[in-house]
Amino acid sequence: MRVTVIGGGTMGSGIAEVFAQFGHDVILSDISDSILRKSELAINASLKKLSEKGIIKEPERVSERILYDTNFTAYDSEFYVEAVIEKPEIKSEVLHKIKNQNAIVATNTSSISITMLSKYAPNPKKFIGMHFFNPPVIMKLIEVVSGYDTDGDTIKRVMDISKSLGKTPVMVKDFPGFISNRVLMALIREAIISLEEGISDAAGIDTIMKLGMNHPMGPLELSDFIGNDVVYDILNVLYNDLGYERFKPPVTLRNMVYAGKLGRKTGEGFYKYDK
Ligand code: 3HC
Repeated sequence: MRVTVIGGGTMGSGIAEVFAQFGHDVILSDISDSILRKSELAINASLKKLSEKGIIKEPERVSERILYDTNFTAYDSEFYVEAVIEKPEIKSEVLHKIKNQNAIVATNTSSISITMLSKYAPNPKKFIGMHFFNPPVIMKLIEVVSGYDTDGDTIKRVMDISKSLGKTPVMVKDFPGFISNRVLMALIREAIISLEEGISDAAGIDTIMKLGMNHPMGPLELSDFIGNDVVYDILNVLYNDLGYERFKPPVTLRNMVYAGKLGRKTGEGFYKYDK
């Protein structure tokens, strides 16, 4: 099928790569050619890794299935995935431009209400959350989120498509942070509070969680990986929408965001990185 992915950042690029890997024709769109050039470089580097490991046979053929264009409205697709920045006003503007009422439109939002966003989609019955995890080509989960109006046929098709992409889909309801970020953000927040209280340093906290719980990354390392600004935004949604004190964004995190210490993408967060 033809799939349009809107948003060429880490998640959008990875999602486009996954669809192309499994034989779909993909249009990957973002606001500028320079962003799309970066997406193309990231996708080709990732495909090279996958082919070196024998996970995919012909990386060039996968690469050829992806068309990069800043104007996604020039194409009509059966399936759309919106993966732009986590701001309701930007997501709503993008969704509003999709005109095909018969297409399934999925959003990769990590915490914004599916039901709220569905107002801007061409057909709320065919609008759904399809939450991928970073890096999308490696991570096996898709959290499928039904909105108030999402119909049964759309849910079934998205569950089936997710399985056909080699993923395990899990259905959840439209609640702030769904399950993944509600549980994960509680962990990351507690790690930041523990750091503020001086119980251990960042490396100590992360080592405890990695070796003690067998997590691939410690919570602070993971916050840097996700982006401390994204973590801050998600905590704000959880705190405002659920009202629980346990999601109040830590001041340390707020200050890091103001200071531009966003994690891997800016070269510094809880740790320093080579850019
Ligand atoms: N493309 C292709 N291959 C990739 C890749 C990519 N984008 N990223 C990693 N890999 C491969 C590497 O080549 C490597 O392969 P190898 O083991 O055969 O050499 C393998 O994956 C492991 O990668 P690395 O050796 O670079 O490093 P790690 O062993 O630390 O693994 C990781 C990296 C897979 C990211 C692992 O650390 C991990 O699973 N971390 C946790 C990730 C996580 O929790 N993600 C979810 C975040 S939350 C989210 O996304 C939701 C949002 O709403 C906030």
